[in-house]
Amino acid sequence: MEIDIFTLFPEAFGWFERQRHVANALSGGSRLGYVNYRDHTPLGAGQVDDTPFGGGAGMVLRVDVVDAALRARYDRDPVEVRAQRRVIALTPSGRVLDEALVGELAREPALTLLSGRYEGFDQRVVEHFASDELSIGRYVVAGGELPAMVVCDAVLRKLPGVLGDERSALEESFSEVLEGAPEYPHYTRPAEYRGWRVPEVLLSGHHARIRAWRLEQSRARAEGGPLP
Ligand SMILES: C[S@@+](CC[C@H](N)C(=O)[O-])C[C@H]1O[C@@H](n2cnc3c(N)ncnc32)[C@H](O)[C@@H]1O
Repeated sequence: MEIDIFTLFPEAFGWFERQRHVANALSGGSRLGYVNYRDHTPLGAGQVDDTPFGGGAGMVLRVDVVDAALRARYDRDPVEVRAQRRVIALTPSGRVLDEALVGELAREPALTLLSGRYEGFDQRVVEHFASDELSIGRYVVAGGELPAMVVCDAVLRKLPGVLGDERSALEESFSEVLEGAPEYPHYTRPAEYRGWRVPEVLLSGHHARIRAWRLEQSRARAEGGPLP
């Protein structure tokens, strides 16, 4: 999997790349590439944004700047790039990321993530360069860097060999094994703490009963809450 992230703050990803599963993905052949819009701007003094037509607060990331950055990376007109790889504009109002979309993206050989800042992109970026608009949720964060990390994290952990224990990704919240339901609750030692006891079934050593209890809990959570 090859993921290119277009951003004004590539240094923000240093911590992210050091996370175990991300490092595993990278040493297993996946690649994260960064393109700083500012490095390719055709404007003077590193300018990348401008005031919005029609007035209003904030600055808008310019379409010519994003065009130049995509062109520099892919060596072709950016309107053609989205036919070859998914070019994803990160926006609060895009398709909301969920497990199905993560799975879909994890099957792609290559992705491009466009991070915005300030007021966001000139709409022509979304209309002419992007194949998808993706949101990490219906709220607004200051820039596309955290959303890009969320997408990369969720996608990379789906790749074979990335997690320490492959079973973690097979059976977790929203997985097929749990029929798309949230995962059941987990407990560890001590078995009793301040009078709060771990459910007896988990201490029984009876695997079939434990399995049945877990599936029951998972289904109950899907229906609106844990069982008493
Ligand atoms: C401050 S936001 C711009 C918000 C925009 N003015 C609006 O009201 O929709 C700056 C950038 O952060 C990113 N961003 C913020 N919230 C996001 C979210 N929930 N999902 C994906 N990207 C988001 C986008 O790349 C966006 O261009």
